[in-house]
Amino acid sequence: MRILITGAAGLVGSHLAQRLAREHEVVALKHSDLNITDEDAVRRRVAEANPELIVNCAVLQVDECEQDPAKARAVNSNGPRYLAEAASEVGAEIIHFSTQYVFEGEPVGREPYTIHDEPRPVNVYGKTKLVGEQFVRQVCARSYVIRTSWVYGSGKNSFLCTVHNDLRSHKRVRAIDDIWSSTTFVEDLIDRMLEIRARGRHGIYHVVNEGVCSYYEFALEGGRLVGLGPVQVDRLVEVIHERDMKRIAARPRYTPLRCLLSEETGLPAMRTWREALADFVRG
Ligand SMILES: NC(=O)c1ccc[n+]([C@@H]2O[C@H](COP(=O)([O-])OP(=O)(O)OC[C@H]3O[C@@H](n4cnc5c(N)ncnc54)[C@H](OP(=O)(O)O)[C@@H]3O)[C@@H](O)[C@H]2O)c1
Repeated sequence: MRILITGAAGLVGSHLAQRLAREHEVVALKHSDLNITDEDAVRRRVAEANPELIVNCAVLQVDECEQDPAKARAVNSNGPRYLAEAASEVGAEIIHFSTQYVFEGEPVGREPYTIHDEPRPVNVYGKTKLVGEQFVRQVCARSYVIRTSWVYGSGKNSFLCTVHNDLRSHKRVRAIDDIWSSTTFVEDLIDRMLEIRARGRHGIYHVVNEGVCSYYEFALEGGRLVGLGPVQVDRLVEVIHERDMKRIAARPRYTPLRCLLSEETGLPAMRTWREALADFVRG
């Protein structure tokens, strides 16, 4: 199968390109190869490659969206629309990644969000990602939207990706203890994405590891997994609060996800976040 990936240098895109290349012909396009906000370029590249499947991993991140809403609309809403239109034109399917941040995250402790819950984003990122999902579903019937949450894996410099290694080398870290979500090991995300596509039921999926945690709980588990005792972890992990962070964009506080379509199509539960993190830490 020929598969075209956009945003192929990012966390999800790079892992996906590597995995799929084992079995498929992959056209992995980095931002410098294809800017998805350029409608003509999108149509041209898709027509040239003539893929059976397009996977869009390009995104503008949370704080950047708040700083530049026009760019956020271009990358997170219109880019996915161009890709979905191009997919329809060549008869391809499209998989588009989205986010738990389409939900408002209240109240803390609520049941995990399903596709029956009404999205109510609290920041520009969530709003523009929601519109992107809607465009993709409207424009291309043969589409899968995969909402995921707090993704980690090798190769990216983010808290979730690096905290265990920082603790392993006894570096002090700061971890937020008052926002919670599902976490997702990128390899598990890809496995489930492939299972979903193999079943062929189009729609909106929620793909995350089981369970919910805060960044703080994630750090504690990372510390434990690299062999630190509770006293050492306690000394190295400083608790901070979201409200004191003064981040550019607001974050929803409590956004665990549950996947009704995976359940309906008979896919097994994803492994727990602790099992997935243990696998990642083992390397
Ligand atoms: N990581 C998470 O925790 C998380 C959580 C929930 C959902 N998701 C979703 O998962 C998907 C992949 O996210 P990720 O974590 O892999 O993101 P990432 O690591 O930030 O990668 C995104 C990639 O998109 C590229 N990009 C930005 N603007 C572009 C444009 N106009 N045209 C083409 N490429 C462009 C970026 O390139 P430059 O850096 O060169 O601009 C970057 O390589 C996104 O849909 C995201 O919403 C991720």
